[in-house]
Amino acid sequence: MSEPVADPSNAPAAPRRAATPVAHRDPTAPVLSIRGLERTYVTAAGSLPVLRGVDLDVRPGEIVGLIGPSGSGKSSLLHAAGLLEHPDGGQVIIGGADCTEMGEGERTRVRLAELGFVYQFHHLLPEFSALDNVALPMRIAGASEADARERARGLLTALGLAEREDHQPAQMSGGEQQRVAVARALANRPRLLLADEPTGNLDPTTSKTVFEALHSLVRGQGVAALIATHNMELAGYMDRVFALKDGHLEERPAQGRAY
Ligand SMILES: Nc1ncnc2c1ncn2[C@@H]1O[C@H](COP(=O)(O)OP(=O)(O)OP(=O)(O)O)[C@@H](O)[C@H]1O
Ligand SMILES: [Mg+2]
Repeated sequence: MSEPVADPSNAPAAPRRAATPVAHRDPTAPVLSIRGLERTYVTAAGSLPVLRGVDLDVRPGEIVGLIGPSGSGKSSLLHAAGLLEHPDGGQVIIGGADCTEMGEGERTRVRLAELGFVYQFHHLLPEFSALDNVALPMRIAGASEADARERARGLLTALGLAEREDHQPAQMSGGEQQRVAVARALANRPRLLLADEPTGNLDPTTSKTVFEALHSLVRGQGVAALIATHNMELAGYMDRVFALKDGHLEERPAQGRAY
């Protein structure tokens, strides 16, 4: 007799966290391991090697800064680490699983369950309220509407936006919009937050306020983070700082002030 086939419509609500790819994971093992990462852009003008064998480990609870001049490859590295693009060589290992070997479906599952991404420009959905923008990824991951809204409210409150939850993005300042984007990135309790100049388009004072909110939330939740920034004052908040130079990473003093 064959085994009964599970009916997904009767399945219990999805847990808040998807099952981890590796069963009994060492809690100190890197959340993100990058090995020999290569990225070369080929254009009519020729080929441009941007990442030429990048190695990096980010461990649980660690906040790592990524610096380097414009065009050095910070976004290229973050997009590969965030499974938004495929590298030309090397490996992106998230939670012990080699994502370069995965199909698109599995990469999407890892993105949803394990990763949060904050872009330089928030990319919030314009017709949705702040609360709904933050709740949406949790709904997609299977959370009930009540649970999603409750956690969204908690995150917005932690970021000082309790009074703005019904505002649409256009009804908020740039700093408020970026804080909503931070809340959205943390909505599904990612293990790894990737942020590409999250305060890059804000004035220095607002930039500091938003970064401090992001930093304390990430720290409080024990999330690992890799954050690209041009702002050397913000780089001083990181546990470790790496500069991209000629396609490789070079560690810099975390309190340093120069590329
Ligand atoms: N799709 C693409 N096709 C061709 N070249 C590209 C492409 N994307 C990026 N590049 C080039 O690769 C290099 C690295 O780009 P990337 O966006 O990763 O740099 P960055 O360090 O993030 O710069 P910024 O600080 O200005 O954001 C740049 O010289 C850029 O022109
Ligand atoms: Mg960039």
